[in-house]
Amino acid sequence: MAPLTPSPASPIGVFDSGVGGLTVVREILSRLPAEPIVYFGDTARVPYGPKSPDIVRRYAREAAAFLLSRGVKAIVVACNTATAAAADTLAAELDVPVLGVIEPGARAAVAATRTGRIGVIGTVGTIRSGAYDHALRRRLPEARVYAQPCPLLVPLAEEGLVDGDAARLIAEGYLDPLRALDIDVLVLGCTHYPLLRPLIARIMGPAVALVDPGAETAAELHGVLERRGLLRGAATPPAHLFVASDAPLRFRELAGRFLGRPVTEVERVDVEGFDRAA
Ligand code: DGL
Repeated sequence: MAPLTPSPASPIGVFDSGVGGLTVVREILSRLPAEPIVYFGDTARVPYGPKSPDIVRRYAREAAAFLLSRGVKAIVVACNTATAAAADTLAAELDVPVLGVIEPGARAAVAATRTGRIGVIGTVGTIRSGAYDHALRRRLPEARVYAQPCPLLVPLAEEGLVDGDAARLIAEGYLDPLRALDIDVLVLGCTHYPLLRPLIARIMGPAVALVDPGAETAAELHGVLERRGLLRGAATPPAHLFVASDAPLRFRELAGRFLGRPVTEVERVDVEGFDRAA
């Protein structure tokens, strides 16, 4: 199939390991309400957090190839773990703009810190990659970066356990060491953490600014599309498409909480083995 030529009317492609990236879509919809979105959640292979970078990079290539087959004009890697493993590779390989969440998140964290003491929380894969650490120190060489994997926060958010004793105890276990390190900014380096934001804010206290890379990515996406003349100016409401690699039932069940509005139609697509020629 010949590649589709992107135009302002083309959709924005967003992918994630599952439903979590809908928190990023939420930010994109609020920033760019005229833009149609094709969202792919790799629910058959979630989670990416504990997997090795090579595997995540392969999955990310397949997700991007699928989105390109749907004629997207830009790709947002909403998943922090996939951004760490694959955003640079995709940006080098693809003809459309590719935005990960880590660079925008790091930029916002550097703008927010006064002391240079920055905490980062994320999946094991994200933290182990050192991608935030690297992006932060490139911008602010004297930054002291304290990174903490918080894997159990993902299932808590998916189960809706975002408050209450279980969530509080687990979150305190992860966050108390960061609090003791006197950080003044904490990067929520995982798609699921915005759901736990009120709890995290309570634990960290008012002196710690929380940075949501998804919101920063939406702002950056706006700028990228504008500069390339790819913003859709139309006043008619855009049509969105939600796609998952596993049966849509659970996606539909969880999507509302992550997106802030219900998702009724979900297409199922098996992207395994997808490549750019597909
Ligand atoms: N979307 C992932 C991230 O932001 C979290 C879920 C997973 O481990 O796949 O890193």
